[in-house]
Parts: sequence; structure tokens; C-alpha cells
Amino acid sequence: RKGGFEHYMLKEIYEQPKVFFDTVKSTENDSRLPMLRIPAEVTVVACGTSYHAALIFRYLAEEYSHKRVSVEFASEFKYYTPPIRDMVIAVTQSGETADTLAAIERAKSRNCSTLAITNVLGSSITRIADWTLFMCAGPEISVAATKSFTAQLAVFMAILNEMCDGRFTDTLARAHCSVERVLSYELEDAVAIIKNASEMFYVGRGVFYPVALEGALKMKEISYIHAEGYAAGELKHGPFALLSEETPVVAICTPSPTYGVMLSNIKEMKARGAPVIGIGAEGDTEAQSIVDVFIPVPEDHQIVQALTVSVVLQLLAYHTAIALNRDIDKPRNLAKSVTVE
Ligand code: M6R
Repeated sequence: RKGGFEHYMLKEIYEQPKVFFDTVKSTENDSRLPMLRIPAEVTVVACGTSYHAALIFRYLAEEYSHKRVSVEFASEFKYYTPPIRDMVIAVTQSGETADTLAAIERAKSRNCSTLAITNVLGSSITRIADWTLFMCAGPEISVAATKSFTAQLAVFMAILNEMCDGRFTDTLARAHCSVERVLSYELEDAVAIIKNASEMFYVGRGVFYPVALEGALKMKEISYIHAEGYAAGELKHGPFALLSEETPVVAICTPSPTYGVMLSNIKEMKARGAPVIGIGAEGDTEAQSIVDVFIPVPEDHQIVQALTVSVVLQLLAYHTAIALNRDIDKPRNLAKSVTVE
């Protein structure tokens, strides 16, 4: 059943190029997509990994389509009253997360138009929301979300492409090739540094900040190492006090307008003793020269690199958890679907 893989998580990681490609195509071909007419102001509600996918959408949508996108934890949204937007989008792999269902009910009671993005046909959320877009991830068995995250990004990126009049069609059509190229990474050098740590950081800027948050969540949940995701510029506002030789930092320094400032941040972290694992573009000798371990990813548009780096971070969590002999597919204290508040 695991298709020759030792764990469902690895099998599901390997399915991602196809899942991304299929989900983009099916969303693009969905006749309801143009009818959705995403308004100028949108709120997205979600939990956990789905929340991180929503944050990535926020960065991309605000940068490229100039719409206002706010992202709220579903568990908060239902108990306070943010200024309501014209449309509320709920993102949930299972379609059964109690907090996300309650948030979308609340949006409906406030007369918002509602859209669900989910992986499960006939799930509870599909019966509540006005509209539904489906992810083509197939059943996800591992508690740690991997291919469902990628499928959520695929739906969001297809929505973005629609909002931007097809500007990203070619980019999205080739994105799976970059993901394909990193799947076999085993990341031994990075794992050797991380596996002995009890705490660590993930940092990025712009769209790579939520990518860092998701990388840290994956590491926490399956390796049990306390990992924190941070916007790179924020570390010096407090967390620097925690940096030492014993707190590895994973720094995402792919090409972007913030590349230069990321390199400065890395030097500051190194100066405080932290071992730094850098993830950057293939052939970037400058970044490579200042970090302890360099993980190259194919150079591409930041839309594609957000996806590729996310997959590398899933693999980093997976191989670290293997080194620590953890229960990969069923981490302690966690359930696949959180159906109570
Ligand atoms: O089914 P949902 O997408 O609503 O689940 C939300 C979270 O519980 C989920 O994303 C969780 O954070 C992941 N399983 C973590 O890998």
C-alpha cells in the first residue's frame, strides 16, 4: 500500500509533482473559476499547514494582483470580529476541521460569499460553503500534511493566475519539473547538524516567511525538535538571545529582492555562533560561502521556488525524524483531522 516506500509521508512527498500539475489543470479547467469573481478584499480562514498555504497566497496575491487578502486562524476568527471582507475562503484538506467549519458558518451568518478549498468530495465544508474548489491530492494518510499543502498551493496559484489574466500559465505548467529535481535529496549534512539540537529556527522573507513557518511545523510535528519559523528580520528583536552553537538555523536565501538583506541576516546569525543551513539557488557561490551547509534548489520564479523549497523542508523534517527513529506517519499526540475545538 505504501507503493514501495518505507512511510506514507515519503510516498506522499513523491506524489507532489503530479498532484501539483493535476490540481493546477483541474482548477484552470473548472468552469466555475471565472464565475467566482474574487473581490478586491478577501479573508482566508484555516488551521495549521492550510493556514500556511493561505499566507503564501496572501503574499503572492497582494504582490501580483493588488487585492487585499487577510489570513486568519479559523480558531480565532470565530471568536472575534475582524472587519469582514466581501468573500471568505476556507482552506481545509479534510473539510472536517471543527474550527474551520465554525469560521465559515460565521462568515455565512455575516452574509459573506464563501468559497471552500478542500481535498474531500462530500466533506462537511462542501455542504456549507457557496462554492467549492477541489484539490487533486488523493487520500493523504500520513498525519503530516505534504501533498495536500502542495495541492492547496496549486489551487491558490491557479486562482492567482486567473486574477492576473493568465500571466503565470507557463510558470505553473513547468513548476512540477523543479519539484521533481529535489525529491531524491537525503540532506545528510543538514540532518547531521539538526538531529542533535533541541531547538532551531527557520527564517525567510516575503513569501518565504510562510514557507519557513511550514518548514518549522513539519520539523516539530515529526521530529519533536522545537522549531520556530520567523520572518528573518524579526530575529534581532528578541530571539537573537537564544542563538548559540546549539541552535541551528535554516535560512531561505533564494534570489529575490530581499536576497542581499538575507545574506546580511545570515552573517549576523553566524556571528552569534548559530550553525546555518542555507537553501539557495543552484550555483550561488556567494550564499554557499557563508553558510555551514548549502542546499541548492533549481533557480526559477519565486512562485515555483516557494513550492520547491517547501518540498525540501518536508524532506529535511522526514530525514531528521528517520535519524531520530520517530514514528513518522503517526506522530505522538496528533490526529489527522481535528474535529473538536
Ligand atoms: O484538514 P485541515 O487542512 O483543515 O487540517 C488543518 C490542520 O490540522 C493540518 O493542516 C495540520 O496542521 C497538518 N496535518 C500538519 O501537518
